[in-house]
Amino acid sequence: MNANRAYAYVKGSLSSFYDEREAESLALRLLEHLYGITRREIVLSQEIDVSPEELNLAISLLNEQKPIQYIIGYEQFCAREFIVNESVLIPRPETEELVQLIVRRGAKYGKFLDIGTGSGAIAITLAKEIPGAELTAWDISEAALETARENADRLNANVKFERVDVLDLPDGDEKFDLIVSNPPYVLDSEKFEMRRNVLDYEPHTALFVRDSDPLIFYRAIVRYAAKHLTAAGGLYFEINQKYGAGVADLMREDFQNIEILKDIHGVDRFVIGNVKEY
Ligand SMILES: C[S@@+](CC[C@H](N)C(=O)[O-])C[C@H]1O[C@@H](n2cnc3c(N)ncnc32)[C@H](O)[C@@H]1O
Repeated sequence: MNANRAYAYVKGSLSSFYDEREAESLALRLLEHLYGITRREIVLSQEIDVSPEELNLAISLLNEQKPIQYIIGYEQFCAREFIVNESVLIPRPETEELVQLIVRRGAKYGKFLDIGTGSGAIAITLAKEIPGAELTAWDISEAALETARENADRLNANVKFERVDVLDLPDGDEKFDLIVSNPPYVLDSEKFEMRRNVLDYEPHTALFVRDSDPLIFYRAIVRYAAKHLTAAGGLYFEINQKYGAGVADLMREDFQNIEILKDIHGVDRFVIGNVKEY
């Protein structure tokens, strides 16, 4: 089949469930992954060796709303490829912004902790980007930790992964210079606004919190960070846009230089601060 026809076929087969731009971008991603072809080969109508079974299977999964990242098995994060599967959240562009913020502002720090690491995207990127950084990363999910370890091995990053429940944190005396977390923050009541590709495939333990206590993870992490950060150590959160003020209030007693920062879409997405020095 020639590349142009393959592209038109995939795009057309997705058109009942995706708008034109999405269908185009999914078709390109799929063909690049399966056959290594890019726009160039499509424009030039080059001949490619297509397996119709393989192509049709991927198309039917996409039409069942399975995220392309879980079909091809990876996602780009800060210019690196991370393995993803249904045990980990697909890392998002907002989280890339959080990591870039830490690299800009927190690079003087040495010991880092990432709470709720998922695919390991935050911890591994910090380990790669900040020379001399020592990374520890926690998650409650053994399956997520297995994927994160695989990512660290593939990317040759030195991160200590541990199974820890944020809601039952250890009271040891280990100290960190910077703690970062992108904990679950989508309200149960926001489920109805979400698309099926998220709701049916991404792990609910990574996404949702009860409406009755939306800041449960933030409260536990703030309490832990107040005791386990070194002098002037930094706490960096990704947040639900509704709760900038709520998270900042939780930090007020023990933290200073608190800032609520917006993401590229202009909504409150990060809260950061430094632990007070007494
Ligand atoms: C929003 S995801 C973030 C994943 C990754 N850090 C990222 O930014 O792409 C939240 C993560 O917190 C983990 N998590 C949920 N409840 C937890 C708990 N009680 N203790 C530790 N981790 C938890 C989930 O398994 C999930 O990996």
